[in-house]
Amino acid sequence: MATIDPTVVELHPYSESDLDLLRRANRPELMDQMGGVEDDAAVVKRHERYLRLPVDGSGQQFRVTIPGHPEGVGMVGWWVQSDRAIRTLECGWSIEPESRGRGIAPAATLALIHSLRERGEGGVLHAYPRVDNAASNAVCRKAGFSLAGTVTDPSVGAGVLVLNDCVVKL
Ligand SMILES: CC(C)(COP(=O)(O)OP(=O)(O)OC[C@H]1O[C@@H](n2cnc3c(N)ncnc32)[C@H](O)[C@@H]1OP(=O)(O)O)[C@@H](O)C(=O)NCCC(=O)NCCS
Repeated sequence: MATIDPTVVELHPYSESDLDLLRRANRPELMDQMGGVEDDAAVVKRHERYLRLPVDGSGQQFRVTIPGHPEGVGMVGWWVQSDRAIRTLECGWSIEPESRGRGIAPAATLALIHSLRERGEGGVLHAYPRVDNAASNAVCRKAGFSLAGTVTDPSVGAGVLVLNDCVVKL
């Protein structure tokens, strides 16, 4: 499929009607890199958490749309890291398998960075793709992130994960 015109990729704040988007994303092809498939109760809990994020300014998830797909082809979002003394922002993304390889995630991530700059958020934005996640590391590269180093995450799944710490200035 051809690369998409980035200007037709739109972000819509996550809303009550987006639970189906989360349910569609709850399959191994999308969740393997993010802690694994969840049961429906956990998906509903995440839905409620996503709705609460913007209430106190601690984050924002977005439904990503392209022409012909108002229901969304994936998600992109940012949140405040809960374990840092200073406000530190992290972001993440997922695109449904049928829509991958068209540059949708990089376009959505660039739009997300733009919206954070418009909000007046300063500092840097982090993304933590697994070192072996070629597609997600490609998104970082195309959205202008640079590699600050690697970090380990002992809390996700079996064993210790090695993640790239990718940063972009806001
Ligand atoms: C990572 C992800 C969001 C990329 O989305 P995307 O819109 O396909 O991004 P791109 O079109 O820029 O493709 C990125 C890379 O995917 C690979 N790719 C290309 N075509 C592909 C296809 N048809 N199917 C799958 N991957 C493809 C390529 O390596 C491409 O990089 P390249 O352009 O340098 O060759 C998507 O693969 C995904 O949702 N993965 C699972 C969730 C995940 O890993 N999230 C990140 C957690 S940190």
